[in-house]
Amino acid sequence: MKDLSSPFQNIVLICGNTRPPGAPKHSCGDHGAEDLKRWLKQQLKAEGLWGTRVRVSTTSCLDVCPKEGVICSFDRGQSLVHLDAETEREHVLQRIRELCASP
Ligand code: FES
Repeated sequence: MKDLSSPFQNIVLICGNTRPPGAPKHSCGDHGAEDLKRWLKQQLKAEGLWGTRVRVSTTSCLDVCPKEGVICSFDRGQSLVHLDAETEREHVLQRIRELCASP
């Protein structure tokens, strides 16, 4: 094992888990997680924040599986946020901007 320094200061995790059709549990990946990540990446690149100040990464299941929407974390998994990937994406972007602005 070898420690490496991270090229970014913050990481936002978005659950992108998917399950087979008919699975009894909800899957964040079927509710816009990838689209949200793609959109955030585009916005953050345009603002010069992507890659150095922040990176957004999809994860497997974070084990809280809501009935709808997507789970994400702005603090490396210390707390989780439940959101609608489409209607609340501007709020997510604003929260990431604030995260990048903090020392
Ligand atoms: S599928 Fe997203 S938290 Fe489980």
